[in-house]
Amino acid sequence: MESVIAKFEEAGQGHVFSEFSTLSPESQQSLLYEANQIDLDLLSSLYSLFKSGHEPEESNDFSPFPNIFNLESASSNHKMILLNDGFKLISKGEVALLTFAGGQGTRLGVSYPKGMYDIGLLSHKTLLQIFAERIIRLKSLAGHQTPPIPWLIMVNWETYDIMIQFFESNSYFGLEKSQVFFFKQDMLPAISFEGKIIMSEKDKICMAPNGNGGVYEGLLKSKALDWLEQKGVKYVHVCGIDNVLAKVCDPTFLAFAKNNDAEVSTKLVEKISYNESMGVLGLRGGKQGIIEYSELSEEMAKLEDSNGKLVYFGGNILNHIFKVSFLRRITNSLEILRSKYHIARKKIPNYSAGVKTIPKDPNGVKFELFYFDVFSMSILSAAMEILRSEEFAPVKNASGPDSPESARKLLSDLHLKWVKKSGAIVYNKPDEQGCSCEISGLVTYAGEGLEFLSERKISLPFYLYY
Ligand code: UD1
Repeated sequence: MESVIAKFEEAGQGHVFSEFSTLSPESQQSLLYEANQIDLDLLSSLYSLFKSGHEPEESNDFSPFPNIFNLESASSNHKMILLNDGFKLISKGEVALLTFAGGQGTRLGVSYPKGMYDIGLLSHKTLLQIFAERIIRLKSLAGHQTPPIPWLIMVNWETYDIMIQFFESNSYFGLEKSQVFFFKQDMLPAISFEGKIIMSEKDKICMAPNGNGGVYEGLLKSKALDWLEQKGVKYVHVCGIDNVLAKVCDPTFLAFAKNNDAEVSTKLVEKISYNESMGVLGLRGGKQGIIEYSELSEEMAKLEDSNGKLVYFGGNILNHIFKVSFLRRITNSLEILRSKYHIARKKIPNYSAGVKTIPKDPNGVKFELFYFDVFSMSILSAAMEILRSEEFAPVKNASGPDSPESARKLLSDLHLKWVKKSGAIVYNKPDEQGCSCEISGLVTYAGEGLEFLSERKISLPFYLYY
């Protein structure tokens, strides 16, 4: 205890413990626990970055990404070959899934991990269950000799126990416990413009996850990467938890990545409008890079080619394949990441000397790493454009665009399309707002295997499950 407090005093952060002696033993413990997570040297170098007005990546050397493969324009034969080749990789145990689930769900307004959110499907399954069932189905499609597909889930310090408890109490949704690996990303405190750690309560530091770019350090510290290597995994499919249509470990995408020998492969969809909140893919200094929507200038976002198509049309849906060897290389050079932190000025509710304040103007800064900040370190990269209606239904906001409502409608539309394609006769019209059709991920991964519905008469709402 004394040594932690002394370290904070030495770093000019002694105020964190200014009311320590007045706290209950439990509160003292929890404050010490939080304080222990903070890397004070890192914090001090981040403050210097802030003072120097640093920008992590310049966007003036950004140019369009050449050769984006459009899956829809490929022949059925080509698609079939990719699909089969991808299944071979899965059946050999060379593929794992990595899901980013360490965010705070602030925009959605939930106090628990977003993956535990029920978006209002007919089944009321959570996002995590939906992912788990797709993994199970994929394994069975890949053949009976296929080993369980390893699933890494990145959480943060605050949600680690909640998440494990959630899986335990749901019997891992039918997965084997040993195929799931939870690991933590680091958290960082918010600081004032003067470099002081901001307190949210007298016994609580204002901590936030260090951005999904915390994944690399998390993989290393938790030994998750060793775990993958020991299993002989060569490719990791990475996606966020907040896309309800994510085709986890998509065989087609895997084969595409392998054929291109790409260290990093990216799935893209066409942006709906120039100002949609999506990162865009391009080349930065000749290497694959993504410029985040918050950092893309309006001028660049609006650029059109001679056909009136956005030059930076390729919206990032947080869906990639990484070679495990690339992840290993990155985790061997983590110090590079320290200079890549993004700095956001925020209004941060705070506590000081018995007074809680909710500021009207930004009063402090938060630091975040973006997982794509390391893309420029990849030697070979590739990108594939896919159909938005089949693979992208984000759950970001509580209402409006990218909300649970829009996501369940997109899922329902897609599943209804599969039902109709199978030859079923659908009597009534779908509900415009809600979910009218849902097929369990245990029944179908991407619309396959539904021939038995042919000629069947179906009325909506329709939920198909085992
Ligand atoms: C993200 C992408 C953006 C993309 C969009 C598509 C980043 C930095 N940006 O933006 O380019 O167009 O998704 O939907 O990823 N997460 C963590 N730890 C954190 C922060 C976030 O695991 O510290 C996870 C979230 O749980 C979520 C994912 O990362 O699964 C995306 O996070 P979010 O902050 O919502 O990113 P967006 O701003 O939507």
